[in-house]
Amino acid sequence: MQTQKLYDEYMMTNIVPGFEPVEVESAKGTRIRATTGEEYLDCFSGISVCNAGHGHPKVVAAAKAQIDKLIHCCTYVYYNPRAGQLAEALAQITPGPLRKSFLCNSGAEAIEGALRLARHATGRDEFVALTHSFHGRTYASLSITGNSARKKSGGPFMPGVAFAPAPYFYRCPYGSKTEAECAERSAEALAQTIRYQTSGNVAAFVAEPVLGEGGILVPHESYFKLVKEILDEHDILFICDEVQTGFGRTGQLFAIEHYGVEPEIMTLAKGIADGFPLGAFIARPDIADAFTPGSHLSTFGGNPVSCAAALANIGVMQDEKLPENAAARGAQLTDALRPLEDELMLVGELRGRGLMIGLELVKDADKTPAAEEAKEVKKRCREAGILIGVGGTFANVVRLQPPLILSEDEAVEIVDILSKVLRDVNGSL
Ligand SMILES: Cc1ncc(COP(=O)(O)O)c(C=O)c1O
Repeated sequence: MQTQKLYDEYMMTNIVPGFEPVEVESAKGTRIRATTGEEYLDCFSGISVCNAGHGHPKVVAAAKAQIDKLIHCCTYVYYNPRAGQLAEALAQITPGPLRKSFLCNSGAEAIEGALRLARHATGRDEFVALTHSFHGRTYASLSITGNSARKKSGGPFMPGVAFAPAPYFYRCPYGSKTEAECAERSAEALAQTIRYQTSGNVAAFVAEPVLGEGGILVPHESYFKLVKEILDEHDILFICDEVQTGFGRTGQLFAIEHYGVEPEIMTLAKGIADGFPLGAFIARPDIADAFTPGSHLSTFGGNPVSCAAALANIGVMQDEKLPENAAARGAQLTDALRPLEDELMLVGELRGRGLMIGLELVKDADKTPAAEEAKEVKKRCREAGILIGVGGTFANVVRLQPPLILSEDEAVEIVDILSKVLRDVNGSL
């Protein structure tokens, strides 16, 4: 493969353990075509990005029209109509009083800016985040990431960050018997973290409403209400990281809507523009107003082409009811795969919301993580025509995050292939 040679010679390929042996020629809807002619059903969406499907015609048309008019002029020097319209749309679709946006380029940049805003707005400088979390690979976003595997040689990290335990029921550190108990114990631990691991100068608590890279960990429905009460007691802001969960992925436009809790700041990226690079953080106006001239900027942030794509993408989400389809197809997949939990030792737990589904693979009743087996499942799925992801703190969680336009028949195709592969790999335990 000529491209592989170019990668090896001229790119820093050593940042990952390996690449999938697929050279992508093109992609449309839910299908990816390789230069070798093979076609795959995409169950990873470019890491949860192409929620409206690859190359959605309305998104492509909006971006092409914008390219003909204006590609870049700097959204923070001159007024850019698309940026203004997108910011208005974000204020309309995000929950509660979130209203003012800063448009940037990526998830990590959104997190960096959100942390900075929280410090400006509160006059405090500490943060609390969750174990098993992932928030990006820049200095501050990596500093608040609760997973040592992602932080190797990246330190020393930003001071003033404390971690509270994630409500990870399957491996609950408190041995909780129910998800509700795990949520309660984990929320209590957050209060303890604030009390004993910080100087009481906490600006914000940052959390993903479903922990994606940590292994699709879905907190119990009570968790964020309990957390918000604790935060409010201490006047600590809640930064909800919707970079991976946002834009319909979990069956609502934003996953925090499942919990009935309103964050003060929300970070967005990935699914915001169906593949065009864009990030954002949006805040309550009284909080956003804490920024003053010189507080923040980004040369490429709010690029007109990305903003035009994002506007079209939001229209598609609403017109084609993509969150609703994510909920329906997600239920179809989890109902069909659920029996495998009892049937196969390999499948320790199946969990998820909408089309954000994880199967945690284990070797035995002691829940020893089955990372090699997860890799093997990914390989065999690819050979059978579906591209899945693998993640989790212990690299043992099979991730299904297909485009939200997935059809009923395609969901059946996934279940058929994945069930067979899991049974085969289970046989080699
Ligand atoms: C929840 C969450 N936050 C932030 C990020 C960082 O986003 P980016 O890779 O666009 O910087 C990610 C990326 O996976 C993520 O899942």
